[in-house]
Amino acid sequence: MNQTPPIRRRDGTLDSTAVRKAYKRWAPVYDELFGSVTRAARRAAIRDINTSQGRVLEVGVGTGIALPLYSGHLEVVGIDLSLEMLEQARRRVAKQDLANVTALLEMDASQLGFADASFDTVVAMHVVTVAPEPKRVMAELERVCRPGGEVILVNHFSAQTGPRAAIEQALAPFADRLGWRPEFPVETVLDRPGLEPIERRGLPPAGLFTMLRFRRIGGENAETPQAMAVEA
Ligand SMILES: C[S@@+](CC[C@H](N)C(=O)[O-])C[C@H]1O[C@@H](n2cnc3c(N)ncnc32)[C@H](O)[C@@H]1O
Repeated sequence: MNQTPPIRRRDGTLDSTAVRKAYKRWAPVYDELFGSVTRAARRAAIRDINTSQGRVLEVGVGTGIALPLYSGHLEVVGIDLSLEMLEQARRRVAKQDLANVTALLEMDASQLGFADASFDTVVAMHVVTVAPEPKRVMAELERVCRPGGEVILVNHFSAQTGPRAAIEQALAPFADRLGWRPEFPVETVLDRPGLEPIERRGLPPAGLFTMLRFRRIGGENAETPQAMAVEA
């Protein structure tokens, strides 16, 4: 019987199969290839998180490269779509005896298996540009963060002009192969009704990455809205 050959997409669309496939390939070399360029941004975000209290959810925890940076007073739960990335994270936790990392779970960030308001801080580093449904992911980050808690994103967002914009546009059709979207405007993540943007900071190297901090609106601890501080 004739079988229709699979359609080869070259539109850069990411779906969860493409993400799993890409990170199965990246898992053994991820830390060596991407670890150093993203290190300073990751450290800056976690330095801030370490001044908080309670439970942290790290969404798209990957190889767990950030896990040793969390202060021991925080309970950390990590989730990821890729089993191979999680396997690296589990090895790291065992090797470094990270007792404050209480769970590493295979889970889709666009459909989190946690009750509302389960975490004090929810962080996603280099994930929203990768996730197939970034707007659903943002809705889930908001849902599982307690009112008054913080949602923190660290990411590369697209440049509007200049050589970086040209490179991003040229790479855009290869998003499924790369496992991330080179073109991703920051506005994509700024429209959640329950997330008040409280800080936007450019991070090294040379402002390539951005940290966005949001406060979860609602509850006693929520403060009145304030303007976003921009420090790029
Ligand atoms: C670029 S890596 C970032 C890993 C880590 N956060 C870091 O800072 O290095 C992106 C990770 O997000 C995961 N990911 C992508 N989409 C996801 C989704 N919908 N749900 C959970 N994890 C997802 C990928 O499997 C991958 O491990």
